[in-house]
Amino acid sequence: MPATVLVGAQWGDEGKGKITDLISSDFDYVVRYQGGNNAGHTVIADGKKLALHLIPSGIMYDHITPVIANGTVIDPKVLLDEIDMLEREGFSTERLKISGNAHIIMPYHRDLDGASEHRLGKNEIGTTLRGIGPCYQDKAARIGLRIQDMLDEDIFREKVEAALVEKNPILSKIYKLPEYTVEQICDEYFAYAKRIKPYIEETGRFLNEALNNKKNILFEGAQGTLLDIDHGTYPFVTSSSCSAGGSVIGSGVGIKHINRVLGIAKAYITRVGAGPFPTEISLDDEASKILTEVGGEYGVTTGRKRRTGWYDAVIVKYAAEVNGLTDLAITKLDVLSEFDTIKVCTAYKCGDRTYNTVPEHQSIFHHAEPVYTELPGWKSDITGCRSFYDLPREAKDYIDFIEDLAGVKVSIIAVGPDREQTILRRW
Ligand code: GDP
Ligand code: IMO
Ligand code: MG
Repeated sequence: MPATVLVGAQWGDEGKGKITDLISSDFDYVVRYQGGNNAGHTVIADGKKLALHLIPSGIMYDHITPVIANGTVIDPKVLLDEIDMLEREGFSTERLKISGNAHIIMPYHRDLDGASEHRLGKNEIGTTLRGIGPCYQDKAARIGLRIQDMLDEDIFREKVEAALVEKNPILSKIYKLPEYTVEQICDEYFAYAKRIKPYIEETGRFLNEALNNKKNILFEGAQGTLLDIDHGTYPFVTSSSCSAGGSVIGSGVGIKHINRVLGIAKAYITRVGAGPFPTEISLDDEASKILTEVGGEYGVTTGRKRRTGWYDAVIVKYAAEVNGLTDLAITKLDVLSEFDTIKVCTAYKCGDRTYNTVPEHQSIFHHAEPVYTELPGWKSDITGCRSFYDLPREAKDYIDFIEDLAGVKVSIIAVGPDREQTILRRW
């Protein structure tokens, strides 16, 4: 088992938090390797509900060491608020390790995220406005501040000074926003640094040592494959590598340790923010209302209503390829119990061509028309099912159909938000 990667196989919000929590009991470490507090992962267990943005979803287990690795971007205030929330809820955060190489989200990153979205107008990406893109931009431009910079006030101040030389004119001259003073930022961030210091660790070495000691690691992906900066629906993506490959870059662990890649997909599909979405159901369609209300499809981070659509098998097959999925978890199957019939997209029509894969060119994908197969619904409550054989025949057929199209075994099926509402089929 040494290392398993768990990734979103769609456009995020697939139920990664729930499945991470569920399988965490088998692991010693749960690691976030990319993204930041754009993520919103819901965990419901033992009557407690947690919405996590930065801290790995394995936090509910005492034996787990949660790690926020180098590939992430960290808003210190959000991190500390989350630590406080967990402590209040009775979960110890003492074991938490944070990489010194992770980049810090600065106040100007949040401002620039909002300003850039405003400038794009109707072409906006619909970001979470958490400063994620601008922070990764600075990382790539080699002018970012890292968590380790918090260990030395002089170094931190120098780097803030250098950054503000560039950021202040952009804020004031291009976007007509207020500038920052070095002191203003340092006063705020030095206070955060005091509290964050005890958690800082060389997480790459720490995780490699754990592997040498035969410990098991679960990498918890955030966002989803179609939001990946390289493999997603660019430019309507996030700014990190959320597919499985990101786990090794974002943690410093060697590829050879990874022997399982679990993709998470909803039994239908949602997307927040702008961008192409072939199987999207229009808002006034009754099916969209059912998915939104029964599925509770509102963002955990921003509260935005998610766009909803029918299961897109082309996308999940693509995710299987990009991530090298060995297993698939299908979540929210219970939400489909309302429908007489259920559609599954098996291909796209683009002009007079039929595509069985995601089209190579963006503008073709933007005009993709879904080709649907309609399957019978089961119209009964499945939230109490705990084995595959408990499911109604139509639900089993639906899962088998999805499995065939993805070419990956469906190992886990979720039939409700609680940890217990799960079928471990081949896990
Ligand atoms: P994540 O970002 O991938 O962790 O997913 P989110 O937490 O943003 O969204 C998933 C939502 O679906 C959360 O509200 C979960 O509690 C809920 N959920 C997860 N699995 C199931 C399921 O099988 N059935 C139902 N009804 N809800 C689920
Ligand atoms: P989890 O981990 C769904 C989307 C945003 C936007 C795009 C870029 O909960 O699945 P960003 O703020 O990252 O620059 O926004 O990515 N997005 C998500 N959508 N779930 C998420 O995380 C997301 N994180 C970012 O809506 O379209
Ligand atoms: Mg989410």
